[in-house]
Amino acid sequence: MRGRGGVLAEETGKVRGIGKTELLGDLLDRLRGENQLSLGLGEQALTDQMTGGHAGRAFDVIVESTDGHAEFFCIEAELMFTAEEFVLKQVPYLDKVLFANSGGEAVEAAMKFARAATGRSGIVYCDHAFHGVSYGALSINGDEAFRSGFGPFVPDCVRIPFNDLVALEQALNGGTVAAFIVEPIQGKGVNMPAVSYLKNAAALCRRHGTLFIADEVQTGLGRTGRFLAVEHWNVEPDMVLLSKHCQAVTCR
Ligand SMILES: Cc1ncc(COP(=O)(O)O)c(C=O)c1O
Repeated sequence: MRGRGGVLAEETGKVRGIGKTELLGDLLDRLRGENQLSLGLGEQALTDQMTGGHAGRAFDVIVESTDGHAEFFCIEAELMFTAEEFVLKQVPYLDKVLFANSGGEAVEAAMKFARAATGRSGIVYCDHAFHGVSYGALSINGDEAFRSGFGPFVPDCVRIPFNDLVALEQALNGGTVAAFIVEPIQGKGVNMPAVSYLKNAAALCRRHGTLFIADEVQTGLGRTGRFLAVEHWNVEPDMVLLSKHCQAVTCR
């Protein structure tokens, strides 16, 4: 099976669809791994752009090297630095990148960083929020359908309605909240923020010493027309979470 842009096809030219062994013509893939490959499958131009042309080299080394673990790791590190530089260039007000294996893992890391950096335990999140299904992420999931049967969850996670600045301020008032984590556009339901919501929410967080974290796992990397969705509302978060469609880089 190979992918190019929005098309899936077997190397032989025969095409497999879900539950079927063969179809006539190419299979148009509009879901692309549950939105994980939203920038396309194996787009060479994109891969070259984001890796500075190193992707092919890494592949060659893996194939040709017989004893080359050290060499392999060296090239991987080179790729990571390239990706780090690329991301920081797009988001110049941030200065560090942590690589993780999934969106959920990025969320877990953000919750831990926020607690460690502030010395506070509280995490505020929104109704209908989706941040993943590992335990930290599930503790800030705003939908009972995902949580039911899995409690108790990580303590001190407080749910507020999306688009409600009064509720946010009430939650922040005690001075115990490490972070407010929010999707700029909520994926479940595709709920849009009110025009001034994110900007005011970020300002409220700054005033209360709380970190403002944008979960851009669904919306980031250009999916809304800007590198980050928060750019539409001129917001600069303290942390940004990206995932899923990063994988367009690694898909050949
Ligand atoms: C906004 C958001 N955050 C986090 C996640 C979790 O990502 P992953 O499924 O890679 O763990 C998702 C997954 O859909 C998501 O939509």
